Amino acid sequence: MRIIVANDYEAMSKKAAHIIVSQIVLKPNCVLGLATGSTPIDTYKELINLYKMGVIDFSDVTSFNLDEYFGLPKNNPQSYDYFMKANLFNHINIDDEKINIPNGMTDNVVRECAEYEKKIEAAGGIDLQLLGIGRNGHIGFNEPSDHFEPKTHLVQLDEDTIKANSRFFDSIEDVPTKAISMGIGSIMKAKKILLLASGAEKADAIYDTVKGPITPKVPASILQLHPDVTIIVDKEAASRL
Ligand code: GLP
Repeated sequence: MRIIVANDYEAMSKKAAHIIVSQIVLKPNCVLGLATGSTPIDTYKELINLYKMGVIDFSDVTSFNLDEYFGLPKNNPQSYDYFMKANLFNHINIDDEKINIPNGMTDNVVRECAEYEKKIEAAGGIDLQLLGIGRNGHIGFNEPSDHFEPKTHLVQLDEDTIKANSRFFDSIEDVPTKAISMGIGSIMKAKKILLLASGAEKADAIYDTVKGPITPKVPASILQLHPDVTIIVDKEAASRL
């Protein structure tokens, strides 16, 4: 694991954007795994700036998002589909046909999950997977569990995650209790992984991920076994390392 401690959120976001740009320069038709949450927002802003400056071209890039709430339509402002359009896709020249996000409104979730896995494989696998991390060490929506989930699946969200994510909703009752998420196996198959964390509330999760035992109780701890992981943290998230 390569750990980079940035001074603050802004510095973390700029470093992350430069790594993503390098990936696109290296392989213009690369496959990016993308994440939602508040953490990557300024990374996406920086990518938009660099795109507007003519530094990057997204026209050949394919993207796969990690997860989506189950039961939220795409036009719901809290859906991850909406988030990605508002925070990135609407501002760059990515081809709509090359954007992939699990369909949270599917009437056949088993089929949706299986097809998502097949699509990732058919695209040649993920070159660079961007990750945030939950306070409980979740990645994507892979919650602490007694086993590592291999594939894209339907998840029952933890109380802690529902509470943490309720800040984006009018009330906690509005937060979906389920989501479709790429599995730990799907994430670990990515050729490179870039995990971002900012703020003191992530310090324990980062400590457990980097220094703790590898356990499905801290899903991100499995990243210790991946051959190419970069973690960029700000000083507060790095405070226990
Ligand atoms: C959600 C997402 C994760 C994200 C996590 C942390 O649960 N499914 O992909 O990493 O929240 O979010 P934030 O970056 O807002 O702290």
